Amino acid sequence: MAANSSAVKKTARKQTATKATAWSGRFAEPVSERVKRYTASVGFDQRMAQQDIRGSLAHSRMLHQCGILSRPDLRKIESGLASISREIASGQFQWSLDAEDVHLNIERRLTSLIGDAGKRLHTGRSRNDQVATDIRLWLRDEIDTIEALLADLQRSLLAQAEKHADTIMPGFTHLQVAQPVTFGHHLLAYLEMFERDRSRLADCRKRLNVLPLGAAALAGTSFPIRRELVARELGFDGVARNSLDAVSDRDFAIEFCAAAALVMVHLSRLCEELVLWVNPRFAFITLPDRFCTGSSIMPQKKNPDVPELARGKSGRVFGHLMGLLALMKGQPLAYNKDNQEDKEPLFDTADTLRDTLAIFAELVAGLSANPAAMRQAALEGFATATDLADYLVKKGLAFRDAHEAVALAVKHAEKAGVDLSELPLADLQQFSPVIAKDVYRVLTLEGSVSARRHTGGTAPVQVRAAIVAARKRLQG
Ligand code: ARG
Repeated sequence: MAANSSAVKKTARKQTATKATAWSGRFAEPVSERVKRYTASVGFDQRMAQQDIRGSLAHSRMLHQCGILSRPDLRKIESGLASISREIASGQFQWSLDAEDVHLNIERRLTSLIGDAGKRLHTGRSRNDQVATDIRLWLRDEIDTIEALLADLQRSLLAQAEKHADTIMPGFTHLQVAQPVTFGHHLLAYLEMFERDRSRLADCRKRLNVLPLGAAALAGTSFPIRRELVARELGFDGVARNSLDAVSDRDFAIEFCAAAALVMVHLSRLCEELVLWVNPRFAFITLPDRFCTGSSIMPQKKNPDVPELARGKSGRVFGHLMGLLALMKGQPLAYNKDNQEDKEPLFDTADTLRDTLAIFAELVAGLSANPAAMRQAALEGFATATDLADYLVKKGLAFRDAHEAVALAVKHAEKAGVDLSELPLADLQQFSPVIAKDVYRVLTLEGSVSARRHTGGTAPVQVRAAIVAARKRLQG
């Protein structure tokens, strides 16, 4: 760097000498090309252009109402911002690196369109409270979209759960067959996870929905502004109570990424199960071909790429959460340029979540279950052993004695190569004399699941009740 720094400097001077920036008045030399590229955020923060315009409109209307901006100036600003909004929407807007970020690009274009009135827009405002406002507006909309997508996914789960309220599959602990459950019940477990995810996002939205504008650079402004007017116009629930905090903290973005990370954790669990279930050794479900890909060398393969990729994408969302935590840690009050680094991780988190959720709502709706394979698997694992133990307890044995008796019965059945329900009564009675003919009712898979009919249980009647309740919550 030292050897050719003068050459770099010379080129930089030549390339930038023509254009002054919004803040270059006190600088003796223009910023170098490399630094310009390094510090510019317009490449990514232009995503917040419409939010920036909405914020500017609300700000200028308030300035007018407070007697700080004339009516003619306001009218010019309004029509100028409207044409800029159209230029951006149609892809005609010329974004410039010289103007550094979305805010200065729009302001510069406004001044070129309407002249001096454009230069008055920034009265009583700073890019620091402006950017904090834009991100909140942007994230608020994203949260609303993601919330709706989560609800779509929940509706897909509900439809499948309804179809499979009676379908029996093995429930697992340690990935070993444990007890029979209904497939509907299993799917509703995910519905609950996504319900908590939605409420976490709603919570995050509540906390982020306060207006930073008015905080200006950090200390507020000497103009007699009325922040409540701006808050109302932009749909904020109130104004940020402390100007230093308003411009500097990004905890709301971290909170969003934490909630997003949990959504991805939940999706990754579902992904893992889908990968197992489509494996021919399970064969519990098949995925529609449109969600699978083949192998370039093995003609027989149909791979569950989508669940695998989503499982992988959870990693990048966790990374963004860690990145934002590290970004915020140790930052002194108030605004620091570090915060410009909040956007790309935040954008990518929202994008990843949106894409993944949209795909999964469709994928879950499209999967088809194979009840025969599920049933076979449940029969192979002595899944009703606990039911036999419960039966013995109901006939007067202590649970530990019942557990012991059933363990011996399982050993016997395993040796004979049959399920507990296939053992003759006489065989079963060797393990406890209290066993009678009625035992076969509890040893069947149907008997086992329908016995668990309490709230939160796996019995088909409970599953149906849970579906009705969930439908109501989703509508309300
Ligand atoms: N592009 C900046 C950001 O994203 C806007 C605020 C810049 N403020 C400043 N004083 N440099 O954070």
